[in-house]
Amino acid sequence: MIESKICLALVLKIIKMKNFIENLPKAELHLHIEGSFEPAQMFEIAKRNKIEIPFKTVEEIEKAYKFDCLQDFLDIYYQGASVLIHEQDFYDLTYSYLKKCADQNVRHTEIMFDPQTHTDRGIAFKTVITGISKACEDAQKNLNVSSYLIMSFLRHLSEEEAFKILEQSLPFKEKIKAVGLDSSEMGNPPSKFKNVYAAAIKAGYIPLAHAGEEGSSDYIWEAIDILKIKRIDHGNNCLQDNNLIKEIIKRDIALTVCPLSNTALQVVKDLKNHPLKKMMNLGLKVTINSDDPAYFGGQVNQNYVEIQKALDLSRENLAVLAKNSFNYSLLPTSKKAEYIKLVDSFFDNNN
Ligand code: HPA
Ligand code: ZN
Repeated sequence: MIESKICLALVLKIIKMKNFIENLPKAELHLHIEGSFEPAQMFEIAKRNKIEIPFKTVEEIEKAYKFDCLQDFLDIYYQGASVLIHEQDFYDLTYSYLKKCADQNVRHTEIMFDPQTHTDRGIAFKTVITGISKACEDAQKNLNVSSYLIMSFLRHLSEEEAFKILEQSLPFKEKIKAVGLDSSEMGNPPSKFKNVYAAAIKAGYIPLAHAGEEGSSDYIWEAIDILKIKRIDHGNNCLQDNNLIKEIIKRDIALTVCPLSNTALQVVKDLKNHPLKKMMNLGLKVTINSDDPAYFGGQVNQNYVEIQKALDLSRENLAVLAKNSFNYSLLPTSKKAEYIKLVDSFFDNNN
């Protein structure tokens, strides 16, 4: 009897925490639109474009989504993206993700897209950017979810290739807020992209980059010193270097942390050993994100739920993370303040 009462109390506690997370207003700052491509939609678009994919069922896909490292994942991720051909495909992909944002109380999102993955297959830059940005405009109107776009350079390709895509983006500059750097990190340090980042900054883009996911703390130093980035995607390996931690705090640069991505790609073996709480205690500004939700087992709210459970995060911790997501977004100061106030009053009413 006592045991079943304890059990019931525990279940209630879990449900209440889940409700708190689901209703918490938040922003998502690290999301690859190609990584939001759910298997069912991939089958549908592959079928209408008459493209063969190596999987016949969702079960086959799930079996293939077991990764030993980043490269393992990237090979499958690029294969999935290859069924996207028409503007409508990019629209549908993006709008599906934005609907999930609305369902999860994600009020603002900063979406990365990899144009080179598509232009290298002969898809026009205009097709990609038009499909994605039309979906963003419609989501703002219909779902009240705002978004900015981050054009990511593929770091396994050359700087010359990155310059070509930067050039192609310029007629659409008004639709793109920032540049990012993603794909295979090891052997492709930020310094490889020094000149193209300088040119992107000159063109008005805000510099961001993945660094320190698999790469060492040296890669993070390069990203902040050479590329002049304003936010670090992942950044887990900053913990290797105390001077770097101090510098990141001093410059008030946030880390976009992705817990389920970290376990899926074996960056962290067990969520219970995830360094998120340690980062917060050190004074680092961190946010919670899904990275590639269709591949890593959960949307942003699932990332909050699982990391809360693994590290026993308090409601206050969660509210800080949500406030960070707005404060370190690229939104104007007045909008940030509005959302932070919203999180504060949500916390006061639900604590
Ligand atoms: N890391 C690097 N590149 C990527 C990722 C990631 O987690 N997801 C999509 N491209
Ligand atoms: Zn990423």
